[in-house]
Amino acid sequence: MSISIIGAGNVGQAIASALSRKGVQVFIGVTDPEKYRKAVLELGDQVSIGTVEDAIGASELVILAVPYSATESIAKSMENWSGKILVDATNPLAPALSGLAIGTTTSGAEQLAQHAVGARVVKAFNTTGAENMADSGYSSGVPFMPVCGDDADARQKVIALATMIGFDAVDCGDLSVARYLEPFAMVWIHMAIKLGMGRRFAFARLQR
Ligand SMILES: NC(=O)c1ccc[n+]([C@@H]2O[C@H](COP(=O)([O-])OP(=O)(O)OC[C@H]3O[C@@H](n4cnc5c(N)ncnc54)[C@H](OP(=O)(O)O)[C@@H]3O)[C@@H](O)[C@H]2O)c1
Repeated sequence: MSISIIGAGNVGQAIASALSRKGVQVFIGVTDPEKYRKAVLELGDQVSIGTVEDAIGASELVILAVPYSATESIAKSMENWSGKILVDATNPLAPALSGLAIGTTTSGAEQLAQHAVGARVVKAFNTTGAENMADSGYSSGVPFMPVCGDDADARQKVIALATMIGFDAVDCGDLSVARYLEPFAMVWIHMAIKLGMGRRFAFARLQR
């Protein structure tokens, strides 16, 4: 099994390290692979780095872990994404974390789906901090990971991936639910950064 991740920042490295610890081959794609080669070496033998184009070509499932502003050009760099699941971990943040740049009647994920022709777009890994993606372990519960997308099989594959790295991954339905998941991410960001609670917490789901 191989997974590609575009972006080698907080989220890209966090997901790569968690997946590699589970024995998954990870191919990271960035515009300047040399800049990240040393950091990627430290993520383990399972992780390699190359260009964005090579990373997209390497796997059926590609996770976008870049600033939202970069998503459109990456989506358009492929004429046709048929056969690929494109996982959108981004949030369309306004400057200085002051809110979201778009929302309520659309979402970053839906915009991405319009640009990524043929891709099965799934929204996931956007609602919690990168530290929780690197290490989802809490003694008090299992961190919640909502997942949405229009293709049920693609959603299930992403749910399996998030479950593998320790999340309570939940099928939340079609891609338009990203209109709620992106603001939900702002709740975590607001609490962690604006309210000063720090980044060492996660949301969890209770059910009866
Ligand atoms: N940080 C979090 O806790 C967190 C949690 C959930 C979701 N998110 C979302 O996840 C996304 C990534 O966040 P982050 O904190 O990981 O950001 P980051 O640390 O700034 O990393 C962004 C990465 O994307 C790369 N990149 C930028 N433009 C690119 C392009 N056109 N093609 C390929 N790679 C490109 C950057 O490479 P260069 O260094 O070469 O520019 C960098 O490796 C954002 O949309 C953010 O809102 C973040």
